Amino acid sequence: MSHKVGGLIASGKTKLVYSLDDPSLVLLRFKDDVTALDGKKRDVIPGKGSLNAGISARLFQLLKENNVHNHYIKMYDPSSLIVRKLDMIPVEVVCRNVATGSIVKRLPITEGTVFDSPIIEFFLKDDARGDPMINSWHMMALKLASKCEIDEIVELTLRANDVLKKFLSSRGLMLLDFKLEFGRRNGEILIGDELDPDCMRVRDASTGKVLDKDLYRKGASLDEVKKAYEELYRRIVET
Ligand SMILES: Nc1ncnc2c1ncn2[C@@H]1O[C@H](COP(=O)(O)OP(=O)(O)OP(=O)(O)O)[C@@H](O)[C@H]1O
Ligand SMILES: [Mg+2]
Repeated sequence: MSHKVGGLIASGKTKLVYSLDDPSLVLLRFKDDVTALDGKKRDVIPGKGSLNAGISARLFQLLKENNVHNHYIKMYDPSSLIVRKLDMIPVEVVCRNVATGSIVKRLPITEGTVFDSPIIEFFLKDDARGDPMINSWHMMALKLASKCEIDEIVELTLRANDVLKKFLSSRGLMLLDFKLEFGRRNGEILIGDELDPDCMRVRDASTGKVLDKDLYRKGASLDEVKKAYEELYRRIVET
């Protein structure tokens, strides 16, 4: 069944959302843009959109096969996915297995510490406020989600972590942390948005080679960033 692509519904830093002839679905088109520091640093890497679309499609499919509910339906073209249209919750849910990034600046934890069990953090998507960290009490007070929905979000995040960790490990990759976004459809909570090296930290398990957006954050050349994304694509999608 082929779909007719309609008008642009939303445009973010790295993705465009289009309507489809079926109103319960949308098209997510991945741009070649790469951004960091809340969008203050920005570049274009030709081909990045299709690498991230392909990686997201593969990982969402994997989660679906493991009954971790998400928005993915199918790929539309190399840089676009057809997904269920969600009413998005403006919260970033971060799951950490190994300490790196903002947590080692915020708390007395040494870089590289492996946590006995994963840490989950919530951040309000609010660029003007620098995406402040919030907890479940804030989420309820701000009417972002009910207690029951927050429980579901935590459960889906932990299950996604288990499935992703195992899958990546089978490809010689280590999952340090990742970020998910959630939405509602008919009263059900689903994982939405993307699942790719823009929103996860992945290292080669034996060499520690960085294969994610940390390269860009830390000033690597665009060519190095692209090569790392291509390697990750090969190891996740093509094997
Ligand atoms: N299944 C979905 N249904 C509807 N919207 C979605 C879905 N998945 C992702 N989106 C939305 O797509 C938009 C574009 O994504 P992108 O990552 O480019 O945005 P962003 O720059 O992170 O910022 P913002 O979310 O503030 O627009 C986001 O608003 C996101 O919430
Ligand atoms: Mg985004």
